[in-house]
Amino acid sequence: MSESGRDHTARATLPPVRRAPRLAAGRARALGLPTRGTTNANRLRRVDRWLLATQVPRLRDAARPLVVDLGYGASAVTTLELVDRLAPVVPGLEVVGLEIDPSRVAAVAADRDPPRVDFRLGGFELAGLRPVLVRALNVLRQYDEDSAARAWDTMRGALAPGGLLVEGTCDEWGRRASWVALDEGGPLTLTFAARVSDLQRPSDLAERLPKALIHHNVPGQPVYEFLRAFDAAWASAAGLSTFGPRQRWAAAVQALADDGWPLVGSTRRAKHGEVTVRWAAVAPDRSSAAAG
Ligand SMILES: C[S@@+](CC[C@H](N)C(=O)[O-])C[C@H]1O[C@@H](n2cnc3c(N)ncnc32)[C@H](O)[C@@H]1O
Repeated sequence: MSESGRDHTARATLPPVRRAPRLAAGRARALGLPTRGTTNANRLRRVDRWLLATQVPRLRDAARPLVVDLGYGASAVTTLELVDRLAPVVPGLEVVGLEIDPSRVAAVAADRDPPRVDFRLGGFELAGLRPVLVRALNVLRQYDEDSAARAWDTMRGALAPGGLLVEGTCDEWGRRASWVALDEGGPLTLTFAARVSDLQRPSDLAERLPKALIHHNVPGQPVYEFLRAFDAAWASAAGLSTFGPRQRWAAAVQALADDGWPLVGSTRRAKHGEVTVRWAAVAPDRSSAAAG
């Protein structure tokens, strides 16, 4: 299915929250609004690769390794792929795909195989579930920034103790992606992942920034300065292009670390075309000078 170029034109806006949403089992209203259901096989492979590399201990340590895939879209394909990738390494894994559009829940009824994988109606309240991990990819970009911030809070509040929310965006084919990892206390990290051979420069990834950052990629804002530093490191590493673009990316990531950017994770992740930076280094600066 092809994603239209209108990704940023039609915005979903949540009504202001006047009181805490009711979450009583079976009676809660699903929080959110149906949006386009674009998805594709293998679109979320980069975030899944990162989940496999970094989140398996969290799932294995959980009394109930429950994962929610929020907003799986017009088909079950990316949820089923998540199950296939995690189940071999997480005993007792349960994955629940939630959709706010009832017709999309009905459409995947034949793919239900609980408790291994199930599909239900639900929104940001997570349908009363208490998952250890939530993957919400390509959902919030279709909301306005305030609604997306409230959605973060609602989902964080529904996590199991020690749980993690992974919220982000990628292109139609999953070649350019970024996501934020949040726990109950707030955002922790921002990760970029790309097919590096397709990039002119790292800041090409700005087009796929998560909702919380996309409007803050302007001079003076931390995420802009991070991408500018990454571009400079990439330019300095041009000599490594002969060894392939991933070697060049890895060298640029090392240069960022050497310059004091607080990167997280092993250098091996860089060789996959990834970089993870602490949220505090890229979070929007809302002081009046920076906001302009
Ligand atoms: C663009 S699709 C993304 C599909 C898949 N996650 C992917 O990345 O390929 C977004 C889906 O999120 C759903 N959605 C939007 N808001 C939601 C919410 N609050 N709760 C659950 N699903 C939601 C929409 O109905 C739509 O099917």
